Amino acid sequence: MEIDINFVDRHVLVFGGTTGINFDVGQAFARRGARVCVVSRKRENVDGAVAALLGHGALVHGACADVRDFDAVGAAIDGAVSRFGPIDVLVSGAAGNFLCEANAISANGFRAVVDIDLIGTFHVLRQAYGHLRKPGASIINITAPQATVPMRYQAHAAAAKAGIDQLTRVLALEWGADGVRVNAISPGPIDATEGFRKLIARTDAELAAAEAAVPLRRFGTTSDIANLALFLASPYASYISGAVVPCDGGGALDSVKPAIERAGADFPDRV
Ligand code: NAP
Ligand code: COA
Repeated sequence: MEIDINFVDRHVLVFGGTTGINFDVGQAFARRGARVCVVSRKRENVDGAVAALLGHGALVHGACADVRDFDAVGAAIDGAVSRFGPIDVLVSGAAGNFLCEANAISANGFRAVVDIDLIGTFHVLRQAYGHLRKPGASIINITAPQATVPMRYQAHAAAAKAGIDQLTRVLALEWGADGVRVNAISPGPIDATEGFRKLIARTDAELAAAEAAVPLRRFGTTSDIANLALFLASPYASYISGAVVPCDGGGALDSVKPAIERAGADFPDRV
């Protein structure tokens, strides 16, 4: 499905935008005329994403930064802003995750996930604030169903993503007066992403069981998430702020939890 919305000459900055869901989000904006900047840790991912986005004829910029590093995030934003001007759409989606029982997660392992997902999101939004188009900017954080649905083997990610949900709401309160909207997308199981393969289904049997458990009886696609991001960033969503929007085929109501727990069942200790 194509939504007829354009972002010609808008500056769209996507943290964690070089692979998977967030890359497709950047791509969707690039196809609609945006100037897109993608940021992540690995040079090869950044170069690959930039090359693919250039294929859409878009103006593209890439930068390497680890969202755990506040100054590196600031430098990446400075570079993007000096190239494309004030930020119209900011997507914060960098994340790290693994399946592991809480008793087996080291302090550093717990901290690594919280640092990337939650503190990384704070770094991105805090550093971007002074460069957002005011009024008019739209911020989209990428959260996950674990934020509200408790899941075994996900103590670290569930805590971090729950923090992202509340950060989204608090900043919607604080930045609303500037005309900045802050929302979050909570993707369900999205096929063909590293996160999906790593966390939800590694065998055919796991795959079939997980898909059958989704109320809409299919996995999501990266386009499902990209379409929602286009909508949230568009004028059609101009009165939506502080919303955490599931895009999961109804999965957070029930099915995502058993899917992840089934996937982790063979790995009671550490995956
Ligand atoms: P992915 O392909 O692994 O994408 C993660 C992105 O974040 C990559 O661009 C990665 O690039 C970057 N990244 C990781 N750690 C980083 C760090 N410390 N600093 C900067 N960038 C970093 O994952 P995905 O499955 O598409 O997930 C994307 C988002 O959707 C995540 O927020 C995830 O929690 C959420 N989500 C996914 C699913 C799913 O089914 N896939 C479901 C619910 C929620 P580098 O390695 O180059 O840094
Ligand atoms: N099970 C248990 N602990 C694990 C683990 C696993 N599968 N993978 C890593 N850890 C622990 C490590 O042992 C380490 O703790 P220690 O120092 O006490 O041994 C800690 O986590 C940090 O690991 P390290 O590999 O040094 O961290 P990193 O910063 O290089 O990577 C991760 C961060 C672990 C989150 C890594 O999975 C990552 O970079 N992921 C990005 C991609 C991704 O997860 N995509 C899916 C998005 S939903």
